[in-house]
Amino acid sequence: MEEKTIKHFLKFDDFTIDEINHVFARTAIIKKRFKGYEEYLPLHDRTLAMIFEKPSTRTRISFEAGMYQLGGSVIHLTTGDSQMGRSEPIEDTARVISRMVDIVMIRTFGQDKIDTFANNSRVPVINGLTNEFHPCQILADIFTFIEHRGPVAGKTVAWIGDANNMANTWVQAAKMLGFTMKVTTPKQYPLNPELAPTGAHLVLCDSPNEAAKDADLVTTDVWASMGSEDEAEKRRKAFQGYCVDKELMSCANPDALFMHCLPAHRGEEVTSDVLEGDQSVVWDEAENRMHVQKALMEYLLLGMDVK
Ligand code: CP
Ligand code: NVA
Repeated sequence: MEEKTIKHFLKFDDFTIDEINHVFARTAIIKKRFKGYEEYLPLHDRTLAMIFEKPSTRTRISFEAGMYQLGGSVIHLTTGDSQMGRSEPIEDTARVISRMVDIVMIRTFGQDKIDTFANNSRVPVINGLTNEFHPCQILADIFTFIEHRGPVAGKTVAWIGDANNMANTWVQAAKMLGFTMKVTTPKQYPLNPELAPTGAHLVLCDSPNEAAKDADLVTTDVWASMGSEDEAEKRRKAFQGYCVDKELMSCANPDALFMHCLPAHRGEEVTSDVLEGDQSVVWDEAENRMHVQKALMEYLLLGMDVK
Protein backbone atom coordinates (compact mmCIF):
# COMPACT_ATOMS: atom_id res chain seq x y z
CA MET A 1 0.00 0.00 0.00
CA GLU A 2 1.35 3.45 -0.91
CA GLU A 3 2.28 5.48 2.15
CA LYS A 4 0.41 8.77 2.48
CA THR A 5 2.70 11.82 2.63
CA ILE A 6 2.05 13.83 5.76
CA LYS A 7 2.03 17.58 5.43
CA HIS A 8 3.95 19.49 8.12
CA PHE A 9 4.46 23.22 8.72
CA LEU A 10 8.03 23.40 9.99
CA LYS A 11 9.11 26.46 8.01
CA PHE A 12 7.21 29.06 6.01
CA ASP A 13 8.20 27.68 2.62
CA ASP A 14 6.98 24.18 3.46
CA PHE A 15 3.72 25.54 2.01
CA THR A 16 3.10 26.69 -1.56
CA ILE A 17 1.68 30.15 -2.28
CA ASP A 18 -1.71 28.52 -2.91
CA GLU A 19 -1.61 26.84 0.49
CA ILE A 20 -0.60 30.08 2.24
CA ASN A 21 -3.37 31.97 0.43
CA HIS A 22 -5.86 29.26 1.34
CA VAL A 23 -4.88 29.60 5.02
CA PHE A 24 -5.34 33.39 4.83
CA ALA A 25 -8.74 33.05 3.15
CA ARG A 26 -9.90 30.52 5.74
CA THR A 27 -8.51 32.68 8.56
CA ALA A 28 -10.80 35.53 7.50
CA ILE A 29 -13.83 33.19 7.48
CA ILE A 30 -12.96 31.47 10.77
CA LYS A 31 -12.27 34.81 12.49
CA LYS A 32 -15.60 36.25 11.30
CA ARG A 33 -17.47 33.18 12.57
CA PHE A 34 -15.70 33.43 15.94
CA LYS A 35 -16.52 37.16 16.26
CA GLY A 36 -20.17 36.38 15.44
CA TYR A 37 -20.35 33.62 18.10
CA GLU A 38 -21.09 31.16 15.30
CA GLU A 39 -20.32 27.58 16.32
CA TYR A 40 -17.78 25.85 14.08
CA LEU A 41 -16.58 22.48 15.40
CA PRO A 42 -14.91 20.66 12.50
CA LEU A 43 -12.19 19.16 14.75
CA HIS A 44 -14.60 17.79 17.40
CA ASP A 45 -12.91 14.36 17.39
CA ARG A 46 -9.31 15.54 17.07
CA THR A 47 -6.54 16.02 19.63
CA LEU A 48 -3.60 18.41 19.53
CA ALA A 49 -0.44 17.69 21.56
CA MET A 50 1.62 20.77 22.35
CA ILE A 51 5.25 20.28 23.39
CA PHE A 52 7.08 23.23 24.91
CA GLU A 53 10.82 23.16 25.52
CA LYS A 54 10.84 26.97 25.92
CA PRO A 55 8.39 29.31 27.68
CA SER A 56 5.35 30.79 25.95
CA THR A 57 2.29 32.91 26.55
CA ARG A 58 0.82 33.66 23.10
CA THR A 59 1.67 30.37 21.39
CA ARG A 60 0.21 28.27 24.16
CA ILE A 61 -2.98 30.25 24.63
CA SER A 62 -3.61 30.72 20.90
CA PHE A 63 -3.20 27.03 20.02
CA GLU A 64 -5.06 25.80 23.09
CA ALA A 65 -8.01 28.20 22.84
CA GLY A 66 -8.08 27.76 19.05
CA MET A 67 -8.27 23.97 19.22
CA TYR A 68 -11.04 24.05 21.84
CA GLN A 69 -12.99 26.56 19.74
CA LEU A 70 -12.81 24.13 16.79
CA GLY A 71 -14.25 21.39 19.02
CA GLY A 72 -11.01 19.49 19.64
CA SER A 73 -8.94 18.61 22.70
CA VAL A 74 -5.45 19.64 23.76
CA ILE A 75 -2.63 17.99 25.70
CA HIS A 76 0.13 20.24 27.00
CA LEU A 77 3.61 18.80 27.63
CA THR A 78 6.86 20.40 28.66
CA THR A 79 10.37 18.99 28.74
CA GLY A 80 10.33 18.95 32.54
CA ASP A 81 7.08 17.05 32.99
CA SER A 82 7.70 14.39 30.33
CA GLN A 83 10.33 11.75 29.61
CA MET A 84 11.91 14.14 27.09
CA GLY A 85 13.53 15.81 30.09
CA ARG A 86 15.07 12.42 30.95
CA SER A 87 16.60 12.02 27.48
CA GLU A 88 14.05 9.74 25.82
CA PRO A 89 15.06 9.93 22.14
CA ILE A 90 13.01 12.36 20.10
CA GLU A 91 12.38 9.60 17.54
CA ASP A 92 10.72 7.40 20.18
CA THR A 93 8.75 10.33 21.60
CA ALA A 94 7.44 11.16 18.12
CA ARG A 95 6.45 7.57 17.36
CA VAL A 96 4.52 7.24 20.60
CA ILE A 97 2.81 10.64 20.70
CA SER A 98 1.78 10.51 17.06
CA ARG A 99 -0.03 7.18 17.58
CA MET A 100 -2.36 8.84 20.08
CA VAL A 101 -3.06 12.35 18.81
CA ASP A 102 -3.99 13.86 15.44
CA ILE A 103 -1.63 16.83 15.27
CA VAL A 104 1.42 18.09 17.17
CA MET A 105 2.78 21.58 17.83
CA ILE A 106 6.36 21.88 19.08
CA ARG A 107 8.37 24.80 20.45
CA THR A 108 12.00 23.80 20.80
CA PHE A 109 15.63 24.83 20.25
CA GLY A 110 17.25 23.54 17.02
CA GLN A 111 15.28 23.02 13.82
CA ASP A 112 16.97 19.61 13.60
CA LYS A 113 14.90 18.49 16.60
CA ILE A 114 11.57 19.36 15.03
CA ASP A 115 12.72 17.84 11.71
CA THR A 116 13.58 14.60 13.52
CA PHE A 117 10.22 14.61 15.29
CA ALA A 118 8.37 15.18 12.01
CA ASN A 119 10.34 12.43 10.23
CA ASN A 120 9.12 9.98 12.88
CA SER A 121 5.58 11.28 13.19
CA ARG A 122 2.42 9.73 11.74
CA VAL A 123 0.60 13.05 12.03
CA PRO A 124 1.20 16.68 10.97
CA VAL A 125 3.72 18.67 13.00
CA ILE A 126 3.64 22.47 13.38
CA ASN A 127 6.62 24.64 14.33
CA GLY A 128 5.63 26.81 17.30
CA LEU A 129 9.11 28.44 17.25
CA THR A 130 12.63 27.11 16.89
CA ASN A 131 15.96 28.93 17.10
CA GLU A 132 15.81 29.23 13.31
CA PHE A 133 12.16 29.95 12.42
CA HIS A 134 8.78 31.15 13.74
CA PRO A 135 6.41 30.47 10.82
CA CYS A 136 3.09 30.71 12.72
CA GLN A 137 4.02 34.22 13.86
CA ILE A 138 4.78 35.35 10.30
CA LEU A 139 1.46 33.90 9.11
CA ALA A 140 -0.25 36.04 11.75
CA ASP A 141 1.83 39.11 10.91
CA ILE A 142 1.13 38.96 7.19
CA PHE A 143 -2.56 38.27 7.79
CA THR A 144 -2.59 41.34 10.06
CA PHE A 145 -0.91 43.44 7.37
CA ILE A 146 -3.48 42.29 4.80
CA GLU A 147 -6.35 43.15 7.15
CA HIS A 148 -5.03 46.68 7.62
CA ARG A 149 -3.47 47.48 4.24
CA GLY A 150 -4.49 44.86 1.63
CA PRO A 151 -2.19 42.54 -0.34
CA VAL A 152 1.43 42.37 0.78
CA ALA A 153 2.91 41.69 -2.70
CA GLY A 154 4.94 44.67 -3.88
CA LYS A 155 5.16 46.19 -0.38
CA THR A 156 8.29 46.86 1.66
CA VAL A 157 8.92 45.54 5.16
CA ALA A 158 11.80 46.85 7.30
CA TRP A 159 13.44 44.54 9.83
CA ILE A 160 15.42 46.40 12.48
CA GLY A 161 17.48 44.30 14.91
CA ASP A 162 18.60 40.74 15.46
CA ALA A 163 19.08 38.22 12.65
CA ASN A 164 16.91 35.73 14.51
CA ASN A 165 14.09 33.24 13.91
CA MET A 166 11.62 36.05 13.10
CA ALA A 167 13.99 37.74 10.63
CA ASN A 168 14.74 34.45 8.82
CA THR A 169 11.06 33.65 8.47
CA TRP A 170 10.19 37.15 7.21
CA VAL A 171 12.84 36.77 4.49
CA GLN A 172 11.47 33.36 3.46
CA ALA A 173 7.98 34.83 3.26
CA ALA A 174 9.18 37.82 1.19
CA LYS A 175 10.73 35.52 -1.38
CA MET A 176 7.55 33.50 -1.66
CA LEU A 177 4.92 36.24 -1.53
CA GLY A 178 6.69 38.91 -3.60
CA PHE A 179 7.45 41.71 -1.16
CA THR A 180 10.75 43.38 -0.29
CA MET A 181 12.54 42.87 3.03
CA LYS A 182 14.96 45.62 4.01
CA VAL A 183 17.05 44.22 6.83
CA THR A 184 19.51 45.94 9.13
CA THR A 185 21.39 44.16 11.92
CA PRO A 186 24.59 44.99 13.79
CA LYS A 187 27.59 43.82 11.75
CA GLN A 188 28.49 41.13 14.29
CA TYR A 189 24.98 39.60 14.02
CA PRO A 190 24.43 39.12 10.26
CA LEU A 191 21.70 37.06 8.59
CA ASN A 192 22.62 33.48 7.75
CA PRO A 193 21.93 33.02 3.99
CA GLU A 194 21.22 29.33 4.57
CA LEU A 195 18.21 30.33 6.66
CA ALA A 196 17.30 33.68 5.08
CA PRO A 197 17.55 33.20 1.32
CA THR A 198 19.23 35.97 -0.68
CA GLY A 199 17.77 37.41 -3.90
CA ALA A 200 15.92 40.46 -5.21
CA HIS A 201 13.43 40.27 -2.30
CA LEU A 202 16.22 40.97 0.26
CA VAL A 203 17.95 44.34 0.63
CA LEU A 204 20.65 44.48 3.32
CA CYS A 205 20.92 48.00 4.76
CA ASP A 206 23.74 49.67 6.69
CA SER A 207 21.54 51.54 9.17
CA PRO A 208 18.05 51.48 10.70
CA ASN A 209 17.22 54.79 8.95
CA GLU A 210 18.11 53.33 5.55
CA ALA A 211 16.06 50.20 6.23
CA ALA A 212 13.01 52.13 7.41
CA LYS A 213 13.01 54.49 4.42
CA ASP A 214 9.91 53.89 2.23
CA ALA A 215 8.81 50.94 4.37
CA ASP A 216 5.11 50.01 4.60
CA LEU A 217 5.77 48.06 7.78
CA VAL A 218 8.52 48.42 10.38
CA THR A 219 9.11 45.43 12.60
CA THR A 220 11.54 44.29 15.26
CA ASP A 221 12.00 41.75 18.05
CA VAL A 222 14.00 41.25 21.22
CA TRP A 223 17.78 41.53 21.00
CA ALA A 224 18.37 38.33 23.00
CA SER A 225 16.06 35.46 22.05
CA MET A 226 15.15 32.54 24.28
CA GLY A 227 18.29 30.51 24.78
CA SER A 228 20.61 33.56 24.39
CA GLU A 229 19.73 35.19 27.71
CA ASP A 230 23.31 34.96 28.96
CA GLU A 231 24.37 37.21 26.04
CA ALA A 232 21.81 39.89 26.93
CA GLU A 233 24.29 42.43 28.27
CA LYS A 234 26.73 42.01 25.37
CA ARG A 235 23.88 42.27 22.90
CA ARG A 236 22.43 45.37 24.60
CA LYS A 237 25.69 47.13 23.78
CA ALA A 238 25.94 45.79 20.22
CA PHE A 239 22.35 46.83 19.41
CA GLN A 240 22.66 50.46 20.54
CA GLY A 241 21.05 52.56 17.79
CA TYR A 242 18.66 49.76 16.81
CA CYS A 243 15.72 50.90 18.93
CA VAL A 244 12.56 51.61 16.91
CA ASP A 245 11.52 55.08 18.09
CA LYS A 246 9.29 57.83 16.68
CA GLU A 247 12.18 59.35 14.76
CA LEU A 248 12.90 56.06 13.03
CA MET A 249 9.19 55.52 12.28
CA SER A 250 9.15 58.95 10.60
CA CYS A 251 11.64 57.61 7.97
CA ALA A 252 9.01 55.05 6.87
CA ASN A 253 5.94 55.77 4.74
CA PRO A 254 3.43 57.95 6.62
CA ASP A 255 0.91 55.10 6.83
CA ALA A 256 3.51 52.49 7.81
CA LEU A 257 2.46 49.94 10.42
CA PHE A 258 4.58 48.81 13.36
CA MET A 259 4.69 45.14 14.44
CA HIS A 260 6.44 43.17 17.17
CA CYS A 261 5.75 39.48 17.86
CA LEU A 262 5.94 40.16 21.65
CA PRO A 263 7.03 39.89 24.37
CA ALA A 264 8.60 43.36 23.98
CA HIS A 265 11.23 45.14 26.03
CA ARG A 266 10.11 48.76 26.11
CA GLY A 267 13.10 51.09 25.91
CA GLU A 268 15.33 48.46 24.27
CA GLU A 269 14.26 47.36 20.78
CA VAL A 270 11.19 49.64 20.76
CA THR A 271 10.09 52.72 22.66
CA SER A 272 6.87 52.68 24.62
CA ASP A 273 5.33 55.44 22.48
CA VAL A 274 5.84 53.44 19.26
CA LEU A 275 4.55 50.21 20.79
CA GLU A 276 1.46 52.00 22.14
CA GLY A 277 1.19 54.46 19.22
CA ASP A 278 -1.32 54.78 16.36
CA GLN A 279 0.86 52.89 13.88
CA SER A 280 1.26 49.88 16.15
CA VAL A 281 -0.90 46.81 15.43
CA VAL A 282 0.80 44.53 17.95
CA TRP A 283 -2.41 43.52 19.76
CA ASP A 284 -4.16 42.57 16.51
CA GLU A 285 -1.02 40.67 15.58
CA ALA A 286 -1.15 38.71 18.85
CA GLU A 287 -4.88 37.94 18.49
CA ASN A 288 -4.43 36.83 14.89
CA ARG A 289 -2.07 34.07 16.02
CA MET A 290 -5.17 32.22 17.16
CA HIS A 291 -7.19 32.78 13.99
CA VAL A 292 -4.39 31.82 11.54
CA GLN A 293 -3.49 28.74 13.57
CA LYS A 294 -7.12 27.58 13.57
CA ALA A 295 -7.05 27.82 9.77
CA LEU A 296 -3.66 26.09 9.72
CA MET A 297 -4.87 23.15 11.84
CA GLU A 298 -8.06 22.94 9.79
CA TYR A 299 -5.98 22.73 6.60
CA LEU A 300 -3.50 20.17 7.93
CA LEU A 301 -6.28 17.93 9.23
CA LEU A 302 -9.10 18.42 6.74
CA GLY A 303 -7.44 19.74 3.57
CA MET A 304 -8.92 22.45 1.37
CA ASP A 305 -12.37 20.95 0.92
CA VAL A 306 -13.99 22.79 3.83
CA LYS A 307 -17.01 25.04 4.10
N1 CP B 1 5.12 35.71 19.93
C1 CP B 1 5.19 34.57 20.63
O1 CP B 1 5.45 33.50 20.08
O2 CP B 1 4.93 34.71 21.94
P1 CP B 1 5.08 33.60 23.10
O3 CP B 1 6.57 33.39 23.30
O4 CP B 1 4.42 34.21 24.28
O5 CP B 1 4.42 32.34 22.65
N1 NVA C 1 12.98 35.81 18.78
C1 NVA C 1 12.21 35.55 19.99
C2 NVA C 1 10.78 35.42 19.65
C3 NVA C 1 9.88 35.18 20.85
C4 NVA C 1 8.44 34.96 20.47
C5 NVA C 1 12.74 34.30 20.67
O1 NVA C 1 13.06 33.33 19.98
O2 NVA C 1 12.85 34.29 21.90
